[in-house]
Amino acid sequence: MGIYKKLGWFFKQEKKAYITGVLFLFLVAIIQLVPPRIVGVIVDEVGQGTLTLKRLIQWLSILVIAAIASYLFRYIWRVNIWGTSAKLERILRTRLFNHFTEMDNSFFQKYRTGDLMAHATNDLTAVRNVAGGGILTLADSVITGGTTIIAMALVVDWRLTLIALIPLPLLAIASRVLGSKLHERFRGAQAAFSNMNDKAQESISGMKVLKTFGQEDEDVEEFRQKTKQVVAENRKVYKIDSLFDPTITFIMGISYVLTIIMGGRYINSGTITIGELISFINYIAMLVWPMFAIGRLFNILERGSASYNRVEKLLLERSKIIEKPSALTKKIRGDIQYSIEKFSYPKSDVPTLKEVHFELKRGQTLGVVGKTGAGKTSIFKLLLREYDRYRGRILYGNEDIRDYTLDALLQQIGYVPQDQFLFSTSIKENIRFANPELSQEEVEKAAELTAIHTDILEMPNGYDTVVGERGVSLSGGQKQRISIARALIIKPELLILDDALSAVDAKTEERILSALKKERSEQTTIIAAHRISSVMHADEIIVIDNGEVSERGTHADLLIQNGWYKEMFDSQQLEQKIEGGAD
Ligand SMILES: Nc1ncnc2c1ncn2[C@@H]1O[C@H](COP(=O)(O)OP(=O)(O)O)[C@@H](O)[C@H]1O
Ligand SMILES: [Mg+2]
Repeated sequence: MGIYKKLGWFFKQEKKAYITGVLFLFLVAIIQLVPPRIVGVIVDEVGQGTLTLKRLIQWLSILVIAAIASYLFRYIWRVNIWGTSAKLERILRTRLFNHFTEMDNSFFQKYRTGDLMAHATNDLTAVRNVAGGGILTLADSVITGGTTIIAMALVVDWRLTLIALIPLPLLAIASRVLGSKLHERFRGAQAAFSNMNDKAQESISGMKVLKTFGQEDEDVEEFRQKTKQVVAENRKVYKIDSLFDPTITFIMGISYVLTIIMGGRYINSGTITIGELISFINYIAMLVWPMFAIGRLFNILERGSASYNRVEKLLLERSKIIEKPSALTKKIRGDIQYSIEKFSYPKSDVPTLKEVHFELKRGQTLGVVGKTGAGKTSIFKLLLREYDRYRGRILYGNEDIRDYTLDALLQQIGYVPQDQFLFSTSIKENIRFANPELSQEEVEKAAELTAIHTDILEMPNGYDTVVGERGVSLSGGQKQRISIARALIIKPELLILDDALSAVDAKTEERILSALKKERSEQTTIIAAHRISSVMHADEIIVIDNGEVSERGTHADLLIQNGWYKEMFDSQQLEQKIEGGAD
């Protein structure tokens, strides 16, 4: 139950949907009580000979109305509860995504990139189940179970109810035990299957090599083993799956036997009628699912809670940033005033940044150049609040960035790091990762902006081509362009390209930069690069050397200053000419 407390923020936010959902669930539970009772009444009226055609039609009309109402109400609660739980998954997904983009290489070494996505997807589904299936099973077991038991006791007989209920808790236990075993084995079967798939893929792509080395027989044997394992694992699944029905039938059987023995006596002694016994037996059948739901609930909560902890752990994998209790949550807009007097990494004595100051009006572009290790990435790490302890301050929209909540700040920033990572999923899903509901057009628009659209169309499955550790391998430049598209999709107020175009050729780079300039004329952009051509059109350029600003100005200013920048520009121009000449 602890997980519901942890998710409290979400339920508070979605109060209306959940209250509506549970209310309609309750109405359905009440309506469901009607049909069994009517069947009982009809039986009794037949027995007493009082049933006329008119009365029969009356009863049947009520049955039809009840069916229609429960159909409608079921739809309403489903939309409210299931639909809302999907929202939770999306929120967590966005958070994770924003988080992943801020992580450095060591993070992706610690958690292998491909796995990260797979795990995150499974975990998010498990958490979503807590908010969807979990709430449903909880409400269902309490409401449907409760009202049915009350109806049995009130309408028929409370002693008979007690007796009939004795074996039913076994259903909850069975569903808990079998359910969790089934889940475990199902995972085993899935793992075996993807194992076999990997093997098949490997063999096909390595066919030539296999043939040259005469390894085909060994390869076929290995594949046979993997297939065998898939069959064995699936057999294990069905062994458990096949236990469900007999177990339910057995436990219900006991309940029916007890009911009929006692019920028969009550009929003989005139305590209840035959019709009431029939209604009663129908009610028992209605208890199967709520009882089962209790067991399922435990499993959902157990899995959801473990998953939520894992997601939380990933989210906490950042530097020890502490939010102020009354931190600002408003949308960040406006200018940036970056003013760092001194910053050293924790556990380091030498300052990494010294007197780095710049101002950036909304809509402007800043270029940052300098040697490797000069401190460019460090400048951005402070903007992204990976570190809070420095002398100086950074204002964004006239507020210190340390006064905003991390979410408020990071949601406005699209950071594309030096080291790209793509998830093992389709290109489309990679690009719209931050918001899986975006349409194909929007994905394509981002891809066109980053000049990757035509490349994608040429891939085997277009936008559905799977990339990453388990898919097609892309060139460095393609990876970079997809990563930028992924950052663009959230239309960030501030886009930081941290050496994110290094593997893209100069011509393509130019296309991307001019497209970005047009698209983002209202928003702020920072570009760090080795290549002078990446930054030469920026409103201001700063040259970082050993953590300090050594030169600054526009491209024209810097050429006049005749320093490092000019030297780099000339030598890169020369290089380009030589390359161009070699073509
Ligand atoms: N987490 C860290 N802890 C300590 N020193 C670091 C850390 N990250 C970077 N540095 C050091 O800070 C300096 C600047 O690095 P960085 O900002 O990555 O430069 P650039 O992006 O210009 O290549 C380098 O000397 C680097 O070794
Ligand atoms: Mg860097």
